[in-house]
Amino acid sequence: MKFGLVCAVGSVLSTVLAQPLFEKRAINETALEDAIPASTGAKGGDNIQASYGKPFAIYQPKAFVVSMFELERDPWLEALDFVHNITLPGLSPIYPTVHCTTNYTICQITTGEGEINAAASVTALTMNPLFDLSKTYFLIAGIAGGEPKYTTIGGVTFAKYAVQVGLEYQFDYTDYHNTNANWTSGYIPYGTDNQDTYPGNVYGTEVFEVNEKLRDRAVELALKVDLNNGTKQNAAFRALYNETAASSLPSVYKCDVLTSDNYFTGNALGDYFANLTKLMTNGSATYCSTAQEDNASLEVFTRLDKYGLVDFDRVIVMRTISDFSRPPPSLFNNTVKFFFDSDQGGIGASLDNLVLAGTPIIHDILTNWDKVYESGKKYSSKNYVGDIFGTLGGEPNFGKSSFDIA
Ligand SMILES: *[C@@H]1O[C@H](CO)[C@@H](O)[C@H](O)[C@H]1NC(C)=O
Ligand SMILES: *[C@@H]1O[C@H](CO)[C@@H](O)[C@H](O)[C@H]1NC(C)=O
Ligand SMILES: *[C@@H]1O[C@H](CO)[C@@H](O)[C@H](O)[C@H]1NC(C)=O
Ligand SMILES: *[C@@H]1O[C@H](CO)[C@@H](O)[C@H](O)[C@H]1NC(C)=O
Ligand SMILES: *[C@@H]1O[C@H](CO)[C@@H](O)[C@H](O)[C@H]1NC(C)=O
Ligand SMILES: *[C@@H]1O[C@H](CO)[C@@H](O)[C@H](O)[C@H]1NC(C)=O
Ligand SMILES: *[C@@H]1O[C@H](CO)[C@@H](O)[C@H](O)[C@H]1NC(C)=O
Ligand SMILES: *[C@@H]1O[C@H](CO)[C@@H](O)[C@H](O)[C@H]1NC(C)=O
Ligand SMILES: *[C@@H]1O[C@H](CO)[C@@H](O)[C@H](O)[C@H]1NC(C)=O
Ligand SMILES: *[C@@H]1O[C@H](CO)[C@@H](O)[C@H](O)[C@H]1NC(C)=O
Repeated sequence: MKFGLVCAVGSVLSTVLAQPLFEKRAINETALEDAIPASTGAKGGDNIQASYGKPFAIYQPKAFVVSMFELERDPWLEALDFVHNITLPGLSPIYPTVHCTTNYTICQITTGEGEINAAASVTALTMNPLFDLSKTYFLIAGIAGGEPKYTTIGGVTFAKYAVQVGLEYQFDYTDYHNTNANWTSGYIPYGTDNQDTYPGNVYGTEVFEVNEKLRDRAVELALKVDLNNGTKQNAAFRALYNETAASSLPSVYKCDVLTSDNYFTGNALGDYFANLTKLMTNGSATYCSTAQEDNASLEVFTRLDKYGLVDFDRVIVMRTISDFSRPPPSLFNNTVKFFFDSDQGGIGASLDNLVLAGTPIIHDILTNWDKVYESGKKYSSKNYVGDIFGTLGGEPNFGKSSFDIA
């Protein structure tokens, strides 16, 4: 469907759907005029800024849950009254619809797994002309592998930093161990020939920092709920670890997520990526959960914040722990057996805890919308937010003042 047609359909829908249940957004005639440049060419210049203010948007959800696949989605569909299915062009062929509650106040998207699906689906959603997301709070709510030093099965982590660790040179062990025996893994940051050196060049999606005050509010509320503590087998598997966090009951933690399409496991890569997370964030981030999408979604939010279509300050990244990212001491020398053959006790607690730990902040947003969340001032960020380039303004406390082009 052409954009013009979508707009026309939008304006028809907006009439049809106008009902007391939710407030239809008014069409902004000024924005419409602004969207069409009066003159181009010599006088107006050829640098046409084709940003548009979504004059025909009719949905203005206050909260949007971002799930990555079916198992993460279903607990939300069960917990809330997601009665509306809205099909959007550009979503994953497996998950072509977003779901909204009766009065369209809360919506949910399933992006599909991995960085490509997350980036493409979140772009399709945020560019869709029917959704005004400029004030919407996004809760990225997925499951993840957990670092035993910081968390455990069923644990709930809220990140401040998201780091993408796949963007590196890669050598297979057989190709480097004879010549570079001291390398601790086959990954080397771009623009360097050494594992421990800050990259000489980056693609821009390596590190994101989200609103710490909002994150802390979400944690404060999540700490009050009774989490699902998991199965007997979960407890037995936790007990194999000697780290206090790993062997304890699940809780809510402030620590950071990394993104890798490559589903890695084990001590060597865990240690290496933990080091890389520190390196990339100049010592600020603590890697505790590993997943496959967050930097991709955050990249889209960064790009669209620049044009006012979303507010990057309103993004929360929550990952609950479905399994451990490295073996317990008893399987220290057999990561393959740990990964394929050990029974960690099931991922049910992590799925339940998505809703249990994510609902309080959503409830807070709805209840205090008029007073607090609509303006966004109370929990506006005091920390730097955005990407490694400073795209949204401000100076990151990570990254370098300039990078090579490569
Ligand atoms: C309408 O659009 C104009 C131009 O984009 C903007 O300045 C103005 O605030 C908008 N009005 C409302 C009520 O949103
Ligand atoms: C809406 O989507 C959900 C989940 O994909 C599905 O279970 C349900 O049947 C759909 N409802 C309608 C009315 O199509
Ligand atoms: C919409 O429904 C939710 C419950 O799903 C409720 O908390 C909220 O107050 C409603 N909002 C409006 C504007 O009716
Ligand atoms: C993804 O975000 C994490 C922080 O959450 C960051 O450490 C990592 O470098 C990012 N990776 C990519 C490839 O963007
Ligand atoms: C490996 O050894 C080389 C010199 O032989 C040194 O430059 C490099 O820093 C060492 N790398 C590591 C990870 O220790
Ligand atoms: C999980 O364990 C904690 C600590 O013992 C307890 O407070 C909480 O109620 C338990 N959760 C459930 C759902 O039983
Ligand atoms: C991680 O960093 C520590 C401290 O610098 C170092 O001892 C260790 O070898 C590194 N591990 C990997 C896998 O790079
Ligand atoms: C945990 O076990 C490992 C391997 O047995 C050992 O190296 C480490 O010191 C132990 N850590 C603690 C905190 O006991
Ligand atoms: C793992 O293997 C190393 C070397 O082969 C050995 O020294 C160590 O004791 C083993 N650890 C365990 C927990 O089996
Ligand atoms: C981060 O560390 C790199 C490498 O040491 C350094 O070049 C860069 O200036 C540091 N960035 C900040 C903001 O301190």
